[in-house]
Amino acid sequence: MITLAHLSDIHIDGSGRNEARARQVVDYLAALPGRVDAVLVTGDLTEQGRPVDYGTVRAVVAPLEVPVLFCPGNHDERGAFRRTLLGIDGTGPANQAVEVAGASVLLLDSVVPGRPEGELAPETLAWLDSALSRSDGPAFVALHHPPVALGIPELDAMRLGNPDDLERVLARHPRVAGVFCGHAHTGAASTFAGLPLRAAPGVKNTTLLPWEHDGDVTRSDAPVGLAFHLYADDVLTTHYRSL
Ligand SMILES: [Fe+2]
Ligand SMILES: [Fe+2]
Repeated sequence: MITLAHLSDIHIDGSGRNEARARQVVDYLAALPGRVDAVLVTGDLTEQGRPVDYGTVRAVVAPLEVPVLFCPGNHDERGAFRRTLLGIDGTGPANQAVEVAGASVLLLDSVVPGRPEGELAPETLAWLDSALSRSDGPAFVALHHPPVALGIPELDAMRLGNPDDLERVLARHPRVAGVFCGHAHTGAASTFAGLPLRAAPGVKNTTLLPWEHDGDVTRSDAPVGLAFHLYADDVLTTHYRSL
């Protein structure tokens, strides 16, 4: 069995408020009597991409004694993300392949610098195709931007712009067992390319559904949340937690 904790959109900004909410999730995970195999954080790690805020991200996740996997979001700055969290220079897409408990986690960079919506560059799609060809066993794809509409117009307008390109790659690799995303700021379960698609709740705040608000789509006093993903016997199960 593979177990992942999945949080997203911590938006560290130096104010202390978002950092405190991120620490709440990390402290919860660190205090559990059992451990997950890894913690996945699907982007918008910082609000403005400032290097100092990536230092705070590192400090916030330090109590976790399992691998922490990051992908960047539209609020991140690719160069600072690469240098500070991955330890690699450069400005190209920060795609990563990580092996966790016998599974491959492919972390994709869907950032379009300066834009809220996402796009997978041709080099990222080629990288994914190659990475999925390299080994066997279950694989999971993680990226910031949801590749499907989730029924929230403000969010759906800035989702992944080229989901068909991603679907074509995934169709060549039946070992892919699920897709994880962030950006939604709401825990959501959907499907994409015939696969389970799971969006993590937002740590910073929660995006409301059209019938939950009359103008302000964001709720800042919503509880902090995260997801746990379990994969066993070819089935992906997700549990959502509010803290
Ligand atoms: Fe976000
Ligand atoms: Fe985002």
